[in-house]
Amino acid sequence: MKIALGADHAGFPLKEKIKEFLERKGYEVLDMGTHSTDSVHYPNFAEKVARAVQRGEADRGILICGTGIGMSITANKFKGVRAALCTNEYMARMSRRHNDANVLCLGERVLGVELALSIVEAWLEEEFEGGRHEVRVKLISDIENEVCRTDIP
Ligand code: RB5
Repeated sequence: MKIALGADHAGFPLKEKIKEFLERKGYEVLDMGTHSTDSVHYPNFAEKVARAVQRGEADRGILICGTGIGMSITANKFKGVRAALCTNEYMARMSRRHNDANVLCLGERVLGVELALSIVEAWLEEEFEGGRHEVRVKLISDIENEVCRTDIP
């Protein structure tokens, strides 16, 4: 599995830890920056990772900023990207099982390194359950594609 990683200056140190962790576990990592703690703009990095996932250049993406909020807001602007901001393992597992999240967003200023790594691990080992959740994810795609629906309850 190939994973695209992106962070701003506030998420850079955690990105480096996650990169090391993923490589140790045998994942292929596409590091899309940033590469230092010099101030940058998080939407630029969210865009790089979201487009890599959208184009199939990466199977999944992980984005880190101070809170994870800016990254998740930006990544979710891209069609086909389902970015989940997670602060614990349960959210990470459910975002895979129920929402088929293909991008994980984390806040370096919110999480400790160990918790962040266990969130990443949980997120990567969980599968999408499909079934009724497939229907709901398809409804999200319909909204993205502005499919006109007349049966909204
Ligand atoms: C940078 O200071 C901070 O605003 C950014 O990392 C992020 O938390 C935005 O959502």
